[in-house]
Amino acid sequence: MTSLAIETNGLEKKYGRRRGLVDLNLQVPQGTVFGFIGPNGAGKSTTIRILLNLIQPTGGTATVLGRKLGDEKVAVRRQIGYLPGTLILEGRQKVKDLLAYLGNLRGGVDRRVMDDLCDRLELDVNASINKLSKGNKQKVGIVQAFMHQPELLILDEPTSGLDPLLQHTFLELVEEAHRDGRTVFMSSHVLSEVQQTAQVIGVIREGRMVKVQNAKEMHLESLRRVDIEFAESVPREMFVKIPGLKNLNVAGNHVNCDLVGSPDQLVKVAARFPMVSLLCEEPDLEETFYSYYEMAEKNAS
Ligand SMILES: Nc1ncnc2c1ncn2[C@@H]1O[C@H](COP(=O)(O)OP(=O)(O)O)[C@@H](O)[C@H]1O
Ligand SMILES: [Mg+2]
Repeated sequence: MTSLAIETNGLEKKYGRRRGLVDLNLQVPQGTVFGFIGPNGAGKSTTIRILLNLIQPTGGTATVLGRKLGDEKVAVRRQIGYLPGTLILEGRQKVKDLLAYLGNLRGGVDRRVMDDLCDRLELDVNASINKLSKGNKQKVGIVQAFMHQPELLILDEPTSGLDPLLQHTFLELVEEAHRDGRTVFMSSHVLSEVQQTAQVIGVIREGRMVKVQNAKEMHLESLRRVDIEFAESVPREMFVKIPGLKNLNVAGNHVNCDLVGSPDQLVKVAARFPMVSLLCEEPDLEETFYSYYEMAEKNAS
């Protein structure tokens, strides 16, 4: 049995009367890259802050690297690389001095690892912290999370503010961490950002996990946009009955729709007519993500 890097049971957080988390159950196996996805306000940062012992839950339990929340705080913290969602970096000190200071807090870091990270992210270590742009501050955040080669990385919206080239570098860092057997738990409100690297995707909505799925399966189950042109007009009735079709539009010899799941029935119906062209676009996980919400809403009502 694989052990769990993170486990929560019925985790709850109320901010006064406001909802933070409601009965959140989460299992992150060791060595996995877990994408924690949900829209703004869903409870991602709340979950992460609880796991880091920065705030206390109002209910439920959690373990991080085998320790209950609050147990051996300093030791656990050293095994974690944490990138906060809102990173506040101020002061006149140089980037390298801040990193050296943080490195000491973590019990010392390998200088070569740190330098290599700064190089790859193109971070100027001689710049003063208070002169850095938002994107450069985010780079400092990423370097300090990775530099002590922690067993567990907890990254709250890590790619926000990074330009696309550096997003790519960041994803490489995540892949390397995964290859080295580390666990990465990263949140995002943009599915496509984690879709490339995550093995497991958990969707949080309004303080609850609504779906946890293998990222590959999610890919298969997701929506495809289909566009077919026939040599002659086709009857709409033949297409409406096909399971898994949404937003069907039949106009003369043109059919377009969104398809969820197997294309089998659609292909069999379409094959009865002479076809000119068939276009099936890559599944848009962004939309799949929203179709889960619709399903969750239907189940709830
Ligand atoms: N310090 C706080 N005081 C009151 N409400 C809060 C506080 N922090 C978060 N919340 C509320 O908790 C919910 C979840 O927030 P958060 O965990 O920050 O979501 P996410 O990170 O997914 O965007 C939101 O409705 C938010 O308004
Ligand atoms: Mg957040």
